[in-house]
Amino acid sequence: MGCFVCSTQVVTGDAAAVVAARKPRRLLVVADPFFEKNGVARFLCQGAEASEFFFGVQPDPSVTLAAEGTRLVQEFQPDTIVALGGGSAMDCAKAMKYFSGSQAALIAIPTTSGSGSEVTDFAIVTHDGVKHPLVDEALRPQMAVLDEKLVAQLPKSLAADGGFDALTHALEAYTATGRSGFTDCLAREAFQRVFSLLPRSVAGTLSVRLPVHEAATMAGMAFTQAGLGLCHALAHALGGCFHLPHGRLNAILLPAVMEVNAPVCADRYAQLAQSIGLEARAEAAGARNLRFALVRLRRSLNLPATLAEAGISPSEVQHQTEALVAAALADPCCQTNPAPVTREMTLQVLQQVTGHGR
Ligand SMILES: NC(=O)c1ccc[n+]([C@@H]2O[C@H](COP(=O)([O-])OP(=O)(O)OC[C@H]3O[C@@H](n4cnc5c(N)ncnc54)[C@H](O)[C@@H]3O)[C@@H](O)[C@H]2O)c1
Ligand SMILES: [Fe+2]
Repeated sequence: MGCFVCSTQVVTGDAAAVVAARKPRRLLVVADPFFEKNGVARFLCQGAEASEFFFGVQPDPSVTLAAEGTRLVQEFQPDTIVALGGGSAMDCAKAMKYFSGSQAALIAIPTTSGSGSEVTDFAIVTHDGVKHPLVDEALRPQMAVLDEKLVAQLPKSLAADGGFDALTHALEAYTATGRSGFTDCLAREAFQRVFSLLPRSVAGTLSVRLPVHEAATMAGMAFTQAGLGLCHALAHALGGCFHLPHGRLNAILLPAVMEVNAPVCADRYAQLAQSIGLEARAEAAGARNLRFALVRLRRSLNLPATLAEAGISPSEVQHQTEALVAAALADPCCQTNPAPVTREMTLQVLQQVTGHGR
């Protein structure tokens, strides 16, 4: 049985105006500290009868942090929660609402173009060095606001990291076992847009920032229905252990994961290759051309090719290998990988991305 649900209302425009139009009575803003400092978080509260703030968001929010925020939700009893920031702020707000049992409407306002969390049923929380993806439709925001002003100042490295996260969402959704014709459309469009526009977006061309921002949301709509795969399972395991940016880990892992998955989904990779104008008449060649194109894109964006290049020494990776493999195999993203995930293929990818010490 197939089922496609896309219930988050996606609005493109001025975030403050969209929030004010809803006339919130009690508004709780969960914001990345960056938006406390620049005043945007407080600006969103004009029009609310009462407002409260949670500015404690850290990258890769912990269960402890979410529990702290949960108490604030229970005390303040908001009718509206606004999540303002990247995946970390949105996931923190989603977990706070979920754990508190609040019925408040959740409005997610992404300020990076990557996670897609504004439309997904996922929230990733970290505990004891392990990233735990919570997956439940109760986590899905009621509204997502895509405001291009909020991504106009995005620094180059954040634009590159986020862009590779969105590309990985699109590619993994396109090959995941839960895919459908509906998710394929969203995933393919997101992949094409991000692949072709990301270099200009990272270089700072403002006119392409909104199309890339929209594409990240499309990729989120695709993967929340279709699922992800081994690349995300390993990115979660490595992110929990070494605290590198999530999108950067995907950039390191994706070509190596494609290599182990290619025997079962070369046809799908070839379709994506064709969609971005690469030679793909033979499936195996199409899959290879796609992998090489992603390696070239990664290099052109100055993203690392290995964990060693990202500052993690091979001895640290070796020391953590058993824990990393166990965490990856336990991650729910493995369940929708196109090929059944084995310990051997997980180890193969890990060894390939470790790189050499200096
Ligand atoms: N829930 C989901 O569906 C989902 C999907 C993918 C990733 N994630 C999670 O999202 C997190 C990564 O999210 P992210 O990549 O958006 O990064 P992030 O939210 O961790 O933010 C990274 C940094 O960017 C800064 N920042 C955010 N917006 C900015 C802006 N406009 N200008 C300048 N600085 C800005 C933040 O202050 C922070 O220091 C990870 O924890 C990952 O596991 C969740
Ligand atoms: Fe991701």
